Order: sequence, then structure tokens, then C-alpha cells
Amino acid sequence: KLVYVLNGPNLNLLGLREPEIYGSDTLDDIAGQLEDRARELGLAIEMRQSNHEGHLVDWLHEAQAEGAQGVLLNAGALTHTSLALYDAIRAVTPPVIEVHLSNPHAREEFRHKSWVGMAAKGTIAGFGAKSYLLALEAVAGL
Ligand code: DQA
Repeated sequence: KLVYVLNGPNLNLLGLREPEIYGSDTLDDIAGQLEDRARELGLAIEMRQSNHEGHLVDWLHEAQAEGAQGVLLNAGALTHTSLALYDAIRAVTPPVIEVHLSNPHAREEFRHKSWVGMAAKGTIAGFGAKSYLLALEAVAGL
């Protein structure tokens, strides 16, 4: 059982980028934690990151083509702007869980709207790197 974990713009800089907001774990650290937990849950992880919107759209299509059990999606700032991601999430059958390290609702007003959240199965936000692990548990239980 395969779970795609898709990460959008600037998340390649995790660990260095505003650590007071996003924590000190890198995306590789998070991938390692997810892989450990996935093994326990009998799942396999396909971890990706891109700074380009179209890659995320293509990977959502790929997740469907590969028969993924679900997708964890941290779309970064594209969360708040991307109608293309909204449409792509609605277009595919695997459930998509919106993930954020920070809690966008407790931050600037421009982060309060989420195109991803409007199409996602559910959202986990505000628990730092642990948000990803909680989202994986959610997919495992679907
Ligand atoms: C984020 C929250 C977004 O508002 C922001 O643009 C990011 C990271 C998070 O994981 O907390 O890039 O998705």
C-alpha cells in the first residue's frame, strides 16, 4: 500500500527556513520519520518535493495511476492560491490529506484561505513535523 507525500515550494529549505515557525527538522528528517512509521503501519512512502505547481499536479495524477492509498499534500504557499491543485485533488480518487507544519489560521490573514483544504479529505496543521505522522495515521485508518 503506497502513500504519496507531496511537498510544494520552499519546503526543500526546511530546517533552515524560519525555524522558529517551521522547526529544525529537514524534509529528509521528516522522510525518515515517515518511513519508520509507514513500515510499522505496513505502508510504503513515495516522498517528493517541487517548487513548481505543475509538478504537484502531475504527481497527483501519478498517485492515482499508481493506485496510491492516499496522498499527504503540503502545498506550501500554493495552498492559498492554486485553483489548479483544487481541481487536481477533486479529479483524482485517492484521498488527499492537507498537511501543514504551522497552523495557517493562527498566522497572517492571507494564509486563512486554502484551495487545497476545500478539496481535501481533511487537514492536519500546527504540529510541526508531527503533522505528517498524524496525517499518515489518518490515511492508514481510511
Ligand atoms: C506551510 C504554511 C504555508 O502558509 C506556507 O506558505 C508554507 C508552509 C506549512 O507547512 O506550515 O510554505 O504549508
